[in-house]
Amino acid sequence: MKTKNYILICFVLAISSVALLSFNIKKETKISKISSEQRLKNGRKIVLGLCAGCHGSEDGKLAGKYMTDIPAFFGKLHSPNITNSIENGIGKYTREQLKTLLRTGIKPDGKRCIPLMPYFPLMADDDIEGIIDFLKSADYSVIASEQKYEPQKLKFLGKMWAKSVKAGKIPTSSISLPDTNNKMELGKYLADAVYRCYECHSSMSKINNENPPKSKKYHQGGAKMADMEGRKVYARNITPDKKTGIGEWTLEDFTKLMRNGVRKNGRNVRMPMIPLPLLSDNEISALYTYLMSVKPKKHKVKEYVPK
Ligand code: HEC
Ligand code: HEC
Repeated sequence: MKTKNYILICFVLAISSVALLSFNIKKETKISKISSEQRLKNGRKIVLGLCAGCHGSEDGKLAGKYMTDIPAFFGKLHSPNITNSIENGIGKYTREQLKTLLRTGIKPDGKRCIPLMPYFPLMADDDIEGIIDFLKSADYSVIASEQKYEPQKLKFLGKMWAKSVKAGKIPTSSISLPDTNNKMELGKYLADAVYRCYECHSSMSKINNENPPKSKKYHQGGAKMADMEGRKVYARNITPDKKTGIGEWTLEDFTKLMRNGVRKNGRNVRMPMIPLPLLSDNEISALYTYLMSVKPKKHKVKEYVPK
């Protein structure tokens, strides 16, 4: 999918207000406090902001695509069609099966998803349900598409990698939405539990999905990745170190990145970094507050400027 299309999809988001401390996850049995409309709205925002980055197809649906940013020595992979087609999508999956898949990465056939597909052990129950509400809705993006793909092809290194990432576990108690008035809580929830900034901005081979700040080089960047054209791009240091991180960034600088995809140095941010343009001001400032609270780490990351 072209970046333009992708950004377009991003623009369709609305707002959720979700936050929760993952050091100290609030695990308590509690009846949901949000309405079913709000739950669907929150789910829609997460799906169109996050899932669409991988599953979005050029027609504006979630019909999947070949992943051109995967190095060839890993294999040839696609993101599946997750529209409601019974035959070629996920129309036959029950809510329970989808919940298991989102929490653990295990598919209804019992197989572990290739771990390119993230799993979400820290996400609030209401957001998991909201995602499923949206996937099962009549929204244009999930109306059945009959797009098909060749089977996934993982080469030796890809298989090794896939085996090295273990599946998640179903949380043993309920996880409630965070307090949207608490910027730290909200920011941490968005960063660690929903949008998983640590996944790319830490040592990618040593991330900790259950306790993201325990990931090696949490938020210090350095991982070498590929953009949609296959050119190299390095995940940046997003700790508040003044010289090598984002310590000199103001909230305005950060907002410009998240909304318009423009970095403080004036360059357009490249994929696979996902701007999240329709996060509310409150959510962006919560993310900023949280990022600035992480311990600054000096870690200079190379910059590759495409010609
Ligand atoms: C970084 C890319 C990426 C993101 C982000 C992502 N996925 Fe996936 N997803 C994949 C890939 C790749 C697979 C295929 C895994 C496999 O074949 O084992 C997959 C598989 C799936 C499947 C199983 C489909 C099937 O045919 O069995 C579902 C359902 C799914 N994703 C839903 C989601 C939802 C919902 C989100 C957002 C909350 C999401 N994905 C985010 C890449 C991604
Ligand atoms: C799929 C991988 C991925 C995810 C997930 C991701 N990023 Fe990034 N991010 C990158 C890459 C790669 C770059 C460098 C892009 C470039 O050089 O144009 C980047 C750049 C940035 C920058 C710009 C820093 C600079 O020095 O200009 C910031 C800030 C940032 N990311 C914050 C975040 C936040 C906050 C999240 C979570 C909400 C996040 N990222 C999620 C991969 C990712």
